[in-house]
Amino acid sequence: MWGAVPDPRLIPTDLIGRAFRQAARARDGLAYAKHRQGHVRLRSALAKMLSATRGLSVGPDDIMITQGTQMAIHLATAALIGPGDVVIVEAPGYRAAWNTFSAAGARLVPVNVDSRGLDTDQLDSLLREERGNVRALYTTPHHQYPTTVALDSGRRMRLLELAREHGIAVLEDDFDYEFHYDGQPLQPLASADPHGTVIYMGSLSKLLAPGLRVGFVVAPRNVLDRLLEIRAATDNHGNQLTEIAVGILFDDGDVLRHARQMRREYQQRRDVFCAALAQHLDGIVSFDVPSGGLALWTKISHLIDPERWRGRAASEGVLFQSAAASSFDGAPGPFARFGFARCTEEELLLAVDRLATAAATSRRPQPPEPRPAVAERTGGLRPSASPPPPAGGGSASVCHGPAPATAAAGCGEEWPGSARRR
Ligand SMILES: Cc1ncc(COP(=O)(O)O)c(C=O)c1O
Repeated sequence: MWGAVPDPRLIPTDLIGRAFRQAARARDGLAYAKHRQGHVRLRSALAKMLSATRGLSVGPDDIMITQGTQMAIHLATAALIGPGDVVIVEAPGYRAAWNTFSAAGARLVPVNVDSRGLDTDQLDSLLREERGNVRALYTTPHHQYPTTVALDSGRRMRLLELAREHGIAVLEDDFDYEFHYDGQPLQPLASADPHGTVIYMGSLSKLLAPGLRVGFVVAPRNVLDRLLEIRAATDNHGNQLTEIAVGILFDDGDVLRHARQMRREYQQRRDVFCAALAQHLDGIVSFDVPSGGLALWTKISHLIDPERWRGRAASEGVLFQSAAASSFDGAPGPFARFGFARCTEEELLLAVDRLATAAATSRRPQPPEPRPAVAERTGGLRPSASPPPPAGGGSASVCHGPAPATAAAGCGEEWPGSARRR
């Protein structure tokens, strides 16, 4: 359950194999690439898909293929960010991206995430405080990493206004767009950005298979040219064979068919997992059912020692992600993230059973009940001590039912925030 990854057993290997064979036989399948932005068959398919489903009116020339989102983040960083520049990042957030910004010499400034997504009031204050030093904001607005919470519509508009006002780039990482279960998926920030403020990055890692290493960037012409220039230093051709094969899968309708099937399957798994947690870990974890994403973000009761629970669960064969993996300063906290997509329903039930067993031996020692004062014991007249807390009391409740339009994880609790900068 460690990662929010697709179930490798559901990757359509036969279809992918067939598409690769077809691509290898194509005239240009094994040749040097003609187009530095990526094979036109894949770019055209992506342009069609992005226009039809994500409200992005783009053509093939507006898209560059990358080897996953991570490469896109790296290229955008190399193009835009230099030593001393400030990059504002969500906290908690995605450490792999933070490491890329830090490696370029950027100073990272965290902005809090709450149940409505990135806090745009705080963003406003940070931009004023940092006056002109901020170069970019990195955000995962659709299913925020790691909380999966969606940025609400008012904040979306505010974020774009602020970015324009302060002249900063918005690096929008939309890594798992297809996996939205309740209501309509929200459209990317990039779809409401006529000014070219947003650099939009997507991936097929969750949709098809992480091992394909196919991602893409949508950006204004001048930015794409810069990204191409930077990538040319290490690679001028991309992976033509894979790009054609994935283009074939799109053209044959296999990608969207697979997306529909997986959405149904993962929604079912989400529901089974959430129901089992609600039943067997009531009082141990609290959460709101996420409206999208491949993972569940939960708050752990104060009665449980999170690190001990994680260790015990690991020895039972269940791995989950601790708060430290995504907190800005790497500090532990009372949160846990469970990737539910890669397990079958039976495996999820077994995992919950083992998590409950592990939790039973991970309780924090409770303070001893205060001994009654002598006067009380003897029935004297001194005022009595306040009553001790109930033995297992103060437990966090589990939220049931479908998520609201904007998924509020943690039952309205704030996420661990940006206490310190680095
Ligand atoms: C926040 C975030 N962005 C992007 C990705 C996907 O990266 P890539 O496309 O390089 O596989 C992931 C995968 O876990 C992720 O969690």
